[in-house]
Amino acid sequence: MKVIIRRMRFSDVEEVSTLEKEIFSNPWSKYSIMQNLFHSDVCFSFVAEVDKKIAGYAFTWIVRDELHIGNIAVKKEMRRKKIAESLMKKIIEKGRIYGCSYAYLEVRKSNEAAISLYKKFGFVKNGVRKRYYPDNNEDAIIMFKYYKNKKK
Ligand SMILES: CC(C)(COP(=O)(O)OP(=O)(O)OC[C@H]1O[C@@H](n2cnc3c(N)ncnc32)[C@H](O)[C@@H]1OP(=O)(O)O)[C@@H](O)C(=O)NCCC(=O)NCCS
Repeated sequence: MKVIIRRMRFSDVEEVSTLEKEIFSNPWSKYSIMQNLFHSDVCFSFVAEVDKKIAGYAFTWIVRDELHIGNIAVKKEMRRKKIAESLMKKIIEKGRIYGCSYAYLEVRKSNEAAISLYKKFGFVKNGVRKRYYPDNNEDAIIMFKYYKNKKK
């Protein structure tokens, strides 16, 4: 299976928005997705393409030396095929190229799959945001990964 990771385009918005609604209980609106594309100097949004269809995507932001991973998702029937890993490799590499000191993200406390993915990439728990998710008041775990050879 060939997975192509590339920057998200405006022509991807419909497909990404459909996936977003399938995957998340509080999906981002099309407008929010587009806002990221308009600010492509700080917002780095990627898709994973398999057979010319979008199988996964990620939204990230780089501000100064911080890389923030806002979201990463893979279509249900395409999971456990290392698509998220391919997206993560691209994201982490982007941060390295931009000279980031660290990457961070928030993840639902109960999201074992995502937490396991992030741990695999060297992220460690760094704090908790209490009742962060408004749909069910679930806590978010904050996870950080420091780039090597950068000051903490
Ligand atoms: C989390 C998610 C992105 C993983 O995508 P994926 O393409 O299936 O993941 P991969 O196949 O690349 O797996 C990479 C690693 O992630 C972890 N992982 C993925 N799915 C997992 C699961 N169901 N249970 C436990 N660990 C899992 C494992 O560490 C895995 O490594 P391994 O295969 O060596 O065990 C996917 O489950 C998803 O889209 N979930 C819904 C959206 C979401 O919750 N996103 C995170 C928001 S913070």
